[in-house]
Amino acid sequence: MGAGIAQLCVEAGVETVGREVGAELGEKARDRIDHFLTRKVEKGQLESYDLGLLTTTTDLGDLAGCELVIEAIVEELGPKRELFAALEGIVGPDAVLATNTSALSVTEIAGATERPERAVGMHFFNPAPLMPLVEIVRAERTGDDAFERAYAFGERLGKHPIRCHDTPGFVVNRVLIPLLNDCVRVLDEARVTVEDLDAGMKHGAGWPMGPCELLDLVGIDVHVHASEALWEKLREPRMAAPPRLVAMANAGLLGRKSGEGFYRY
Ligand code: 3HC
Repeated sequence: MGAGIAQLCVEAGVETVGREVGAELGEKARDRIDHFLTRKVEKGQLESYDLGLLTTTTDLGDLAGCELVIEAIVEELGPKRELFAALEGIVGPDAVLATNTSALSVTEIAGATERPERAVGMHFFNPAPLMPLVEIVRAERTGDDAFERAYAFGERLGKHPIRCHDTPGFVVNRVLIPLLNDCVRVLDEARVTVEDLDAGMKHGAGWPMGPCELLDLVGIDVHVHASEALWEKLREPRMAAPPRLVAMANAGLLGRKSGEGFYRY
């Protein structure tokens, strides 16, 4: 997700610092960005791009000069809060701190900072370079300035931003997560194959990709974490991750990123 967001920034001509936990991951992300942007140029969708706008680093301190930071780390509250607290000591006083969380509370993440008015949610959708939507999420103490700057940045990236408040799952995931959980339950209930379920939702409900393909794309672990966050807040049975998905996550069957999920890659 981080690489996809960095790609959008480079494409929009924005000077970008991508921070990864290891140098190799940073290099991999750079190669991926170069590959997709080259394809866009070849297909005539983009005139040119300047990969020189992107710096990759493993040092958080290199984010010091950034006007806006978009956090896209692991979908867990503790590490996100720690990162926000650390960022506050690094960036300038006017910098906006945005989280790309799928379903955690932006207010709780912002609560780790001393100036929560500059914290906001910017929720992108997978794959970030292709999906037009970004949800701009107003937490309890988000200031108007940070909120509008995040909205304007979403527009600058060529996205379709929508404004919403910090409620569990925001807009899309509040609906999509229980729906995907239902799809997985139907696998067992209707004794349908993965391929037939995907065909059913594509050809009978007009989905661009089947639910199992989509879960593999998003990451089984990410989806399970998001389900758990929604279940914790709403206590609706449909929000809880089906045992089949929890077992897959525990077994390392995470989807595309691990090479196997519902399908093999
Ligand atoms: N950057 C640029 N181009 C990319 C790319 C990237 N990162 N990834 C793929 N592409 C390119 C492909 O290489 C391909 O180009 P090529 O023909 O030159 O190789 C081109 O984009 C189109 O790829 P596809 O043929 O796969 O495109 P489709 O027309 O099949 O559309 C899709 C792909 C947009 C992903 C479509 O299937 C879709 O809309 N799927 C649903 C996705 C969805 O629902 N996402 C939301 C998930 S929920 C979520 O993210 C929330 C989170 O909180 C969990």
